[in-house]
Amino acid sequence: MTGGNDVKTGAMVVLPDAEAIAQYMAKWLTEQALAKKGGPFVIALSGGSTPKRLYQILASDEYRDRFPWANTQFFFGDERFVPDSDPASNYNMVESEMLAHVPVPPANVHPMPTSGDPAQAAAQYQTELEKVYGGTVLEPGRPLFDVVMLGLGDNGHTASLFPRQPVLREKKLWVSTCVPDDAPHTRLTLTYPAIHSSRHVVFMLAGPAKREAFAKVRAGDPAEPASHITTEGELIWLMDKAAAGQ
Ligand code: 6PG
Repeated sequence: MTGGNDVKTGAMVVLPDAEAIAQYMAKWLTEQALAKKGGPFVIALSGGSTPKRLYQILASDEYRDRFPWANTQFFFGDERFVPDSDPASNYNMVESEMLAHVPVPPANVHPMPTSGDPAQAAAQYQTELEKVYGGTVLEPGRPLFDVVMLGLGDNGHTASLFPRQPVLREKKLWVSTCVPDDAPHTRLTLTYPAIHSSRHVVFMLAGPAKREAFAKVRAGDPAEPASHITTEGELIWLMDKAAAGQ
């Protein structure tokens, strides 16, 4: 896949349905991870329904013994500020669908902290990212992430970058808090600059409910938080026909 580096120019890969998106992503992600040389493969995972199927596929016989678990560092793009045991926790979903079933070293899994003060938890997560990055300042040409996985909400949110919230103006921090006015839970989320420091940003969208938000974002509507996502690498839209309006 080759594409541009923002939501307007990013390559669109249109597939029949959500299952095809998950299968395509499993194959592509495994190829990317296997091709990574000279350091760990660093990924920011997303929550959501289509990624859930991807996680099941990566834990299946076809991929479990092939994916380079030991050379991959698993971070999260966002998280609800709830205990790990809560069904609303992205970590809970990824753990139960994938991580619990694969030979990943526990030290390679980085759930966002979700207790105490949210701002302190965000700072703590940034410190964890800095350790893997080997620095505290993001350098162009040396991306933090190999892959950032993202979804798109009906209101144009992505990760936990929600409309109207101060986190949308964050230029310096890599991780911040977000308290949506149109969705439950305080969140932790990667910021725009952290997401930008990536080799690939991959959006996964399935179903007709995504069509309107996608059309607005693709046209660059500034009111949609996802419209401002960029990467120094390549941005890719993995979508089904219904989401693409085909
Ligand atoms: C999450 C993410 C969120 C998600 C979108 C789309 O953890 O759920 O915060 O950004 O990717 O809301 O979700 P679906 O793909 O499930 O529609």
